[in-house]
Amino acid sequence: MDSKLPATGTTIFAVMSSLAEECDAINLSQGFPNFNPSQKLLDLVGQYLNSGANQYAPMPGVPALRKAIAAKVQTLYGRSVDFESEITVCDGATEGLFSAIQAVVRSGDEVIVFDPAYDSYEPSVTLAGGRTIHIPLITSSDKPDFHIDWERLKDSVTNKTRLIILNFPHNPTGVILSPDDLDKLADIIRQTKTFLLSDEVYEHIVFDGAAHESLLKHDELWARTFVVSSFGKTYHATGWKVGYCVAPPALTNEFRKIHQWVCYTVITPVQHAIADYMAQTPDHYSELPDFYEQKRNHFCQLVAGSRFTLRPTNGTFFQILDYSEITDEDDVTYAKSLTREIGVASIPISVFCEQPFANHLLRFCFAKDDHILEEAAARLCQL
Ligand SMILES: Cc1ncc(COP(=O)(O)O)c(C=O)c1O
Repeated sequence: MDSKLPATGTTIFAVMSSLAEECDAINLSQGFPNFNPSQKLLDLVGQYLNSGANQYAPMPGVPALRKAIAAKVQTLYGRSVDFESEITVCDGATEGLFSAIQAVVRSGDEVIVFDPAYDSYEPSVTLAGGRTIHIPLITSSDKPDFHIDWERLKDSVTNKTRLIILNFPHNPTGVILSPDDLDKLADIIRQTKTFLLSDEVYEHIVFDGAAHESLLKHDELWARTFVVSSFGKTYHATGWKVGYCVAPPALTNEFRKIHQWVCYTVITPVQHAIADYMAQTPDHYSELPDFYEQKRNHFCQLVAGSRFTLRPTNGTFFQILDYSEITDEDDVTYAKSLTREIGVASIPISVFCEQPFANHLLRFCFAKDDHILEEAAARLCQL
C-alpha cells in the first residue's frame, strides 16, 4: 500500500519497551513511573466509577476539571483563562499535540521543531500536509547545556512558517527555558503570523529551585500559543492518557473542531477524580520537583563512578549519559546491546534527530523506585 507516512516505523518507545520485556531487562527506556498514583487519587477514581459517572463527558471536558486547570494556571503562571472558551481536556498530551497541529497547519506550511524532537510531532505535521524543519539544539564550551540556536531560528522563520513547536522542560535532554528565552522568541516572531505549540508535559518537574517558564506567563507569546500538558507525568498515571490544551478562544475554537472528531471526549470518572484531587492537594506541584530531584541526584551519584559521562538535567525525569568513553558503536545498536547483555533498557537519542548531531547519547528514565535505580546503576558501573 502507498503509505501516507512512509518514513514512520514503530515508535522507539514501543521497540525498546518490548525488547526490555523480551530480555527481562530493567526498563529505563519509556518515560513512565513504576509506582502508582497516590491512594487518594485511586480512591477518587473508584468513587466516581461506582457512583455512575460513566457516560460521555462534555466534548471540551468536565467543567470541574477545566475550572481546576484554570485555577492552577492563575496560581502558577498568573494568567487568567476562561474555562469555557480556553481550556479543552484531551486524550493525553498526544491528542492535544495532534489536534493543535491539524487545527493550524495547512498543505505546504512549514513547522519548526528543535531536535532532538519528541517523535509524534513530525508525523502529525506530515498528515496535515506540512513540512517539518528541524533545528538542532546546540551546546558550546561556555554553555554546555543544550539550548536554542537563536540565529538559526531567526534565519529559518519565513512567511511559510505556520507553527513553531517547543518542548520545555525538554524530553530527552532535560533542559529548561529562561525568561530571557521567551523574550528572544517574541522578538523573532513579532512581525510574523507564526503560531506556537508549547508541549509542557514536564511543567511540574524542574530542579535546583528553578521556575518553569510556561508560555502562559508571556503576554505577547500567549496570544498565539497552544499550551499542551499531561496529567500522566504529574500524577504518576501515564496509562490514563488524560491531558489538556490551553489556548486563546479563537485557537481553542479551531482546536475543538479537530478534537471532537479525533476522540470527542475523554474518560469521565478520571476527569472528575483529577478535578477533586487538584483541589484537595494544592501542594503536589511544589512537592513533585523535590521528589524527582532526589531521584535524579541518587541515580547520578550511583553512575558517577562508571565510564559514562553525565549531562546536566534541569527538568523532566530523564538523565542523558554519554558513552563515548566506552565504545564507538551507534546509539541504536548500543542501546539494544545494553538491553540484551546487561539487562538495562534506555532510549537512543539519534532517533529524535533529522541529522545525527548528538552521538553516543542514551536517555535513562529515573522515575523508578530507588532499588530499581540502584540495580540498574550497578550494572552500568560494570561496563
Ligand atoms: C515531550 C512529550 N510530549 C508528549 C508526551 C505524551 O504525553 P501523553 O502520554 O499524555 O499523551 C510525552 C510522553 O512521554 C512526552 O515526553
